[in-house]
Amino acid sequence: FPARSLAGEHVVLTAGPTREAIDPVRYISNRSSGRMGFALAAAAARAGARVTLVSGPVALPTPPGVERVDVESAAQMHDAVMARIADCTIFIACAAVADYRVATPADAKIKKNDADMALALVRNPDILADVAGGAQAPFTVGFAAETNDMQANAEGKRRRKGLDMIAANWVGRPGSGFDAEDNALEVSWDGGSVALGPSPKTRLAEALLEVVEQRLRDKQSQ
Ligand code: C5P
Repeated sequence: FPARSLAGEHVVLTAGPTREAIDPVRYISNRSSGRMGFALAAAAARAGARVTLVSGPVALPTPPGVERVDVESAAQMHDAVMARIADCTIFIACAAVADYRVATPADAKIKKNDADMALALVRNPDILADVAGGAQAPFTVGFAAETNDMQANAEGKRRRKGLDMIAANWVGRPGSGFDAEDNALEVSWDGGSVALGPSPKTRLAEALLEVVEQRLRDKQSQ
């Protein structure tokens, strides 16, 4: 992978899960490990980019040369990204952002009683769609974790959110997706697609960044 190929670029990434508080001790979250996003951040830094990694709660060390911003909730992730997007040239949304948050998190620990209970949930902002829809939007890359009809669902997502590129992977299958060391991606853009992997997430990150760089140069020359 060419060492200085992303020199001059500012890559902003999101990674990991978000936590949506129910009360001071409980939250709603998911199984994202953050590994794909951290591997991409490390690879982008190795390629000479300035890298800002906005991460949910994960148990991973910060890659060398990467500026890391830790957040918990989707709302915090949204604010942290929007505050850093102005001079960003490539935005890669790897985070498994919770689609919903608890409408009114309790200030004190909720006590149980014999009755059933229901939690009211409200929609979270879509960070990726907001970045892609902004003025002077960077080159935007989304991820789509799918359990069925992977290509069709991913391409629909790419168009709906107005993205330059989408990387789709299967979840719930051995050797891919959440919390796995290896992954395989089906990457598509307006007018093309390529299959990457299965390979370790570090290797896959470099391969994906190569495709991103090619499409970015194509877009710039148009
Ligand atoms: O629509 P869906 O959640 O499947 O889209 C996944 C893509 O959108 C991922 O790249 C994810 O990081 C991003 N996303 C986001 N903010 C949300 C939901 C998803 O940035 N609230």
